[in-house]
Amino acid sequence: MAGVKVAVLISGRGSNLEALLNASRVPGFPAEIALVIANRAGAPGLAHARRAGVETAEIDHRAFGDRDTFDQAMETEIVRAGCGLICLAGFMRLLGPAFTERWRDRILNIHPSLLPAFPGLDTHQRVLDAGVRITGCSVHFVRPKVDSGPLIIQAAVPVLPDDDAGRLAGRVLAQEHRIYPLALRWVAEGRARVVDERVIVDGVGTVDPTALINPAP
Ligand code: GRF
Repeated sequence: MAGVKVAVLISGRGSNLEALLNASRVPGFPAEIALVIANRAGAPGLAHARRAGVETAEIDHRAFGDRDTFDQAMETEIVRAGCGLICLAGFMRLLGPAFTERWRDRILNIHPSLLPAFPGLDTHQRVLDAGVRITGCSVHFVRPKVDSGPLIIQAAVPVLPDDDAGRLAGRVLAQEHRIYPLALRWVAEGRARVVDERVIVDGVGTVDPTALINPAP
């Protein structure tokens, strides 16, 4: 393993963390997961990190008086571990503007909708309630507003007639696990540049017609 060191921030299950860990084991992957931070003690996703021999930290946001001191505590660990990129993977806390500005274009987030549609919680049920026919998932650079920032990659997933939120979430999650490692690869390689709050990815193909992943790997 080599390349830029990455801190992954989680709150729960950690399946996207697992996808990033798996990708980072492939020879030639340009990033190394060096630290996993959970804001909840005992977050199940920490097990993936431990199994992979990756350093973990549990930093409970409730132990801090305000957002900035919590952010600062995480940043101390992230800097100490030598990380140059941060991936949010089911991290259920909003980061403060001071933190997101210091790490501008170096924090990635994944969200289970085609942003800027349906930011926030309870995404799949709101998608179903709205009668949307195509949903999906997005990886983006983080700005202070929840689930906002320049889009790096999206995958589109059709909503099926018999879907409930759980079934839809499962199919979207399978695409999340494909696109997050791709986005991290491109950012770590310096191929994803933000220009006027849009991302230009160098050297990628055109859209994949089977999965509507755009840009294609
Ligand atoms: C994913 O759907 C992700 O898009 C959202 O939270 C969920 C986290 O799942 N931000 P996991 O913890 O990665 O399994």
